[in-house]
Amino acid sequence: MLSKFAPLLLLAFSASVAAAATPLIQVTGCNVQHATPNLPSGQTMLTVPSGEIVTNIGLGVGVQNYTCASTGTFTSVGALAELLDISCLFGTPVFGNLTTVAFDIFNASPAVTTQDVINALGGDKIVLGQHYFVTNPFTGSGVSPTFDFRAASKKGDPNAFVIANKTGDIPAPTGSQDIDWLELTGAIGDLAKHVFRIDTKAGQPPSTCTPNAFLSVKYTAQYWFYNSTSS
Ligand SMILES: *[C@@H]1O[C@H](CO)[C@@H](O)[C@H](O)[C@H]1NC(C)=O
Ligand SMILES: *[C@@H]1O[C@H](CO)[C@@H](O)[C@H](O)[C@H]1NC(C)=O
Ligand SMILES: *[C@@H]1O[C@H](CO)[C@@H](O)[C@H](O)[C@H]1NC(C)=O
Ligand SMILES: *[C@@H]1O[C@H](CO)[C@@H](O)[C@H](O)[C@H]1NC(C)=O
Repeated sequence: MLSKFAPLLLLAFSASVAAAATPLIQVTGCNVQHATPNLPSGQTMLTVPSGEIVTNIGLGVGVQNYTCASTGTFTSVGALAELLDISCLFGTPVFGNLTTVAFDIFNASPAVTTQDVINALGGDKIVLGQHYFVTNPFTGSGVSPTFDFRAASKKGDPNAFVIANKTGDIPAPTGSQDIDWLELTGAIGDLAKHVFRIDTKAGQPPSTCTPNAFLSVKYTAQYWFYNSTSS
C-alpha cells in the first residue's frame, strides 16, 4: 500500500539534495529563513510578520477532533499531529504537493497510522515535534494550540514549545473540504512568535451529527514557524 509512493518520495529527496548543492545529503534543518509562504492575495487575516524569519517548515500529519453539540453540528475540540521537517524540500517541485502526497498515504485506509506516514517519508529523524492542545492558560476554559519540539528535534531545550492564540483565520482557498488556513501568535514559550497553518488537506467534520458523538478526522497541513531575528 505504501510502496507505490516510494519512487515519488525518492524523487523528492533527490531533488532536494540537488537543490541544496551540498556534498552531504541533508534532509532536515535546511535554512529557510527567507522562504515565503504562498498566502492568498486580497486578504489581510494572514500576513507575513515583519522583522521575523522562518525557523522551520513542518508537515503536520494527524487528526482534528470534534464533538457533536446539542444542535447536531460538530465543534472543534483540538487536534493531535506529528510535525515533520520539510524545510529541505522547499523550492523543489514536490514541495507544493507534500500535503496531498502525505494525506493520500495516510488516508489509504483507516489502519494507516501517523507513524506509518513518518516511516514512509523518512523515519523518526525527520520529526520536528508534536502539535496538540492544552487548556487555555488565560481563560482556564477551552483549548489552545501548542507546538512542542522538546521530545524530538529540540531535546534538552526546556523552552522549545509555544502555546498560541489564533489571530487570523480564512477558509481554505482549496475548498470547503479542507480546514481553514490560520495565523497563530505565540503567547507562552520560546519556540515561535508566529505559526501559520496553510495548504491544508481535509480535516473537516460531516455537516450533521448525533449529539455527544466524538470524531477524529485525518488531515495534513503545512506549518510555518516564525521567530524574531534576534534569536
Ligand atoms: C484527539 O483524538 C485522538 C484520538 O483520535 C486522541 O489521541 C487525542 O488525545 C485527541 N486530542 C485532543 C486534543 O482532543
Ligand atoms: C504536483 O501538483 C501539480 C498541480 O498542482 C501537478 O501538476 C503535478 O503533477 C504534481 N506533481 C507530483 C509529483 O505529484
Ligand atoms: C493571548 O490571548 C490572551 C487572552 O485570551 C491575552 O491575554 C494575551 O495577551 C494574548 N497574547 C498574545 C501574544 O497575543
Ligand atoms: C526564538 O527566539 C528566542 C529569543 O527571542 C530564542 O530564545 C529562542 O531560542 C528562539 N527559538 C528558536 C526555535 O529559534
